[in-house]
Amino acid sequence: MEYTVEMRHIVQRFGEKEVLRGIDLKIHEGEIFGLLGPSGAGKTTLIKILTGQLRQTAGEVQIFGKNAGNRKENLSKMGMMMDNFGLYERLSCYDNLKLFTRIYDVPEKRADEILRRVGLYEDRKLPVMKLSKGMRSRLSLARAVMNEPRILFLDEPASGLDPATAAEIHKLVQEEKSRGATIFLTTHNMEEAHKLCDHVALLHEGVIMEYGQPGEVCCRYNHQNKLLLRLLNGKMVEMSNNRTSAEKVKEYLEQEMVETIHSTEPSLETVFMELTGRGLE
Ligand SMILES: Nc1ncnc2c1ncn2[C@@H]1O[C@H](COP(=O)(O)OP(=O)(O)O)[C@@H](O)[C@H]1O
Ligand SMILES: [Mg+2]
Repeated sequence: MEYTVEMRHIVQRFGEKEVLRGIDLKIHEGEIFGLLGPSGAGKTTLIKILTGQLRQTAGEVQIFGKNAGNRKENLSKMGMMMDNFGLYERLSCYDNLKLFTRIYDVPEKRADEILRRVGLYEDRKLPVMKLSKGMRSRLSLARAVMNEPRILFLDEPASGLDPATAAEIHKLVQEEKSRGATIFLTTHNMEEAHKLCDHVALLHEGVIMEYGQPGEVCCRYNHQNKLLLRLLNGKMVEMSNNRTSAEKVKEYLEQEMVETIHSTEPSLETVFMELTGRGLE
């Protein structure tokens, strides 16, 4: 199967308000897909539709080739980590996971295996209310991958985490991809998306404004198309990114004068600002 998820013209209204205004997206099997958008864009709403927590106003969703109506059948193949974590505050890390081994009907020893994997084994007896935000994220992710899902939905998995903890979460997400899972994540962190995702879509005011591989999207907005050289003497040199610059670049390199060379394609963040007229935070 080429696509794990196919959405056709998804519309979601809450009263008068149209939050999603016709979303068409396809998620490739085995990829990490990132849905990007500012707060309030409708990212969580779309995840809720895909995971069967919300019935869309209009449009169709197919997951593993099955219609939305058959989503119960898909549930055992899904893992999800929503932004409210869904953990029991008074139960220990271990007991939280144990509960889910029963729900998913997997051996109880799986709880310990996963606690080790996410680095919470030493703290397995701590109640959730004593955990830091980073530990909660890891526990929540542990719970989401308990049943070795074929598709994993992660709603802002690394939001509000320090860079080191975010990197741990990213590593776990990549391990899930290596295992063969398809990953659908939302984020408003463009750097995270660029590093992690095979494809991204930019959601703004209910429509998908851009879609593609992160690098490819950035290159589409490389209006200047220049090369920027920083020389060892501190001087900056700008030249066109074409053959007319070949001799000059060669000369600088031969004279060992080059500190850095960059092309002028913008970051995803800059692309988003150009498209929406504002930043993401
Ligand atoms: N159950 C609901 N009833 C009414 N409005 C809602 C409901 N859920 C979400 N919304 C509205 O839909 C918009 C998108 O919300 P959400 O999907 O949570 O955005 P995001 O996850 O991108 O921050 C917001 O304006 C939010 O207030
Ligand atoms: Mg959200």
